Amino acid sequence: MPSIPHPVDLSVKPDITPFFDPATNTVSYVVKDPNSPACAVIDSVMDIDYASGRVAPVSADKIIRLIQSNGWRLEWLIETHVHADHLSAAPYIQSKLGGKIGIGVNIRIVQETFGKIFNEGTEFQRDGSQFDRLFQDGDSYEIGGMTGFAMHTPGHTPACMTHVIGDAAFVGDTLFMPDGGSARADFPGGDARTLYRSIRRVLELPDAMRLFMCHDYGPNGRDIRWETTVAEQRAHNIHVRDGITEDEFVAAREARDRTLEMPKLIIPSLQVNMNAGRLPTPDQSGRRFLKVPLNTL
Ligand SMILES: [Fe+2]
Repeated sequence: MPSIPHPVDLSVKPDITPFFDPATNTVSYVVKDPNSPACAVIDSVMDIDYASGRVAPVSADKIIRLIQSNGWRLEWLIETHVHADHLSAAPYIQSKLGGKIGIGVNIRIVQETFGKIFNEGTEFQRDGSQFDRLFQDGDSYEIGGMTGFAMHTPGHTPACMTHVIGDAAFVGDTLFMPDGGSARADFPGGDARTLYRSIRRVLELPDAMRLFMCHDYGPNGRDIRWETTVAEQRAHNIHVRDGITEDEFVAAREARDRTLEMPKLIIPSLQVNMNAGRLPTPDQSGRRFLKVPLNTL
């Protein structure tokens, strides 16, 4: 099988509206078919103030307003992976606008791992059935007249997928902007060597392919940016530009990962996102509670 599972059609140019969430440095996207009302939402954010336990759909409502005010039709809510730094708003947006929630099939591995860590009962299914679609490598799907496809790009997590839609690819947390390098590979199920191979696979896409990041932290004080190209990444990415070997990458990535603290929202994020973004079921009092596993992560 060729490394890129489908021919890429750079003449298909989706209209892309980014939404940057400054609280978590996440970029969500609305990806719209220029020739029909159809659109998809990639990596939406549900706001949480962890200190007070308050959850609010401020970011998600902006996305909903954009789609509703233009009369667009939401077909897909895609998660590039199980995020460890923010809650997904996919079920909330789906409840307002419809559409199918999709993620990589290896969500099952993530559910198995974190189902144990959070000591979820047998009612927590580990088969991915909370999602409407589980993408395998090479699976394609329609957004109106556009065809998108998923490429399995593990390493940051086992379930990471890169989504290619026309001349745009949504790389999740495989790559950061060229001056940011790459995402960490030290979460349970992560692996730096696997991440290198996934990134090099993404960089086999055509030079002119637009690449959209899931995060940007504005390294060295520069303004936030989220869009680049394959050519720019191959020439300038500080971790994986052309010429950097797998062993060099792995050594640097693992050394850096040893210095990183856990993301502030990892505990609520994984608990909620492994369940497709659904908040915990209310108890007898009608209230919802998150767990904090002590001395585990
Ligand atoms: Fe991530």
